[in-house]
Amino acid sequence: MAHIRALSTAVAIGGLVALGSAPAAAQTAEVLHYWTSGGEARAVAALQQEFEAAGGTWIDSPVAGGGGDAQATVLRARVLAGDPPTAVQIKGPNIQDWAAEGALANLDEVAAAEGWDEILPPLLRDIVTYEGHYVAVPVNIHRVNWLWVNPALLEQAGVAVPTTWDEFNAAADALLAAGITPLAHGGQPWQDATVFETVVLGLGGADFYRQALVDLDPDALTSDTMIAVFEQMRRLSGYVDPNFPGREWNLATRMVMNGEAAMQIMGDWAKGEFAAAELQPGSDYLCVPTPGAAGYILNSDSFAFFKVEGEDRIAGQRLLASLILGTDFQETFNLFKGSIPARNDVPPDAFDACAVRSMDDLAQAVAADSLVPSMAHEIAIGRAARGAFLDVVTEHFNSDMTAEEAVERLVEEVELAQ
Ligand code: BGC
Repeated sequence: MAHIRALSTAVAIGGLVALGSAPAAAQTAEVLHYWTSGGEARAVAALQQEFEAAGGTWIDSPVAGGGGDAQATVLRARVLAGDPPTAVQIKGPNIQDWAAEGALANLDEVAAAEGWDEILPPLLRDIVTYEGHYVAVPVNIHRVNWLWVNPALLEQAGVAVPTTWDEFNAAADALLAAGITPLAHGGQPWQDATVFETVVLGLGGADFYRQALVDLDPDALTSDTMIAVFEQMRRLSGYVDPNFPGREWNLATRMVMNGEAAMQIMGDWAKGEFAAAELQPGSDYLCVPTPGAAGYILNSDSFAFFKVEGEDRIAGQRLLASLILGTDFQETFNLFKGSIPARNDVPPDAFDACAVRSMDDLAQAVAADSLVPSMAHEIAIGRAARGAFLDVVTEHFNSDMTAEEAVERLVEEVELAQ
């Protein structure tokens, strides 16, 4: 508690300096992130520019590797070595875990000054607060369950955009017969899990999704629906090209752009890649929800600030935290990133059709109770249980394991991980 009070005082001093009162103190932030693809790099560069324009010194610490698993290892090693970064891009239960360890700075003063209680939707507020205190700041809302489509290839094969998994399979078979790779995919565990959770939602609906991927209910994990999910995953493993193992997600997106594959299942960070290549939704590419039951799989990126020493670093943390939810910045950043704003009052006017659809579908999902947190992107459950899903889903995708064997393995591994 005394520590938190001392930190708040230091943060308040940093804030005054940030507002321009003399003497000018340095404001430094070392930012650990994994935004290294074309669209991601544009988005993080916008944050860096905003920070530097406000007088901050930015030290960039990128750790390549989509989904952030490589970064998570680096972060833990740095904290254990007593050298935490000043700011880090983390999310979901990871924020709560670090806060429970007492590692995160309290952001209540910045939050009060910037009115976060009023501008943040409750679903994000829950993610970034711990025991009633702000310990992180959300920067966006990403939707995971998107299908990215090359319309010219679908037309060439004479198929319509699929809206159910049966339609998807029929379209994919027709694409294969026309000599076109149906699915662009990167064989990495988090990407396999991304596809898997969209199938869980599509075949099972939101209630089943919650039972299986949030509550980890053994009956749901071994149900006929889960067997059908793994059978669909087996179908999908036949629709990818032979070079899929290990491929980064953005290279898979590029395959859709270049006409090397017809579709990709990926969150809307993929839209950041289409945007960086100056392609237009509706004509150059299509964004549609993944097949099956309606719903919205939520992912949201946040920045958390580790407790650090040094006035310049504490001032840098406060400055960065206060800039992230600025209205103009939210627009610029999210246009590059492919996501939609974290605050609920940014006008949709500047956003493209995919973002507007994301905003509308999010509101509808909240009303219909079909908003679900992403398992693959670490919003639903902690790292250990998520790891159990990634292991089994990836092993099944890359072997001849039956769906029945997969659910047995899954329920065992999930139980061990709890
Ligand atoms: C993150 C995104 C990121 C994507 C690919 C997701 O888990 O939330 O911000 O673009 O992984 O790295």
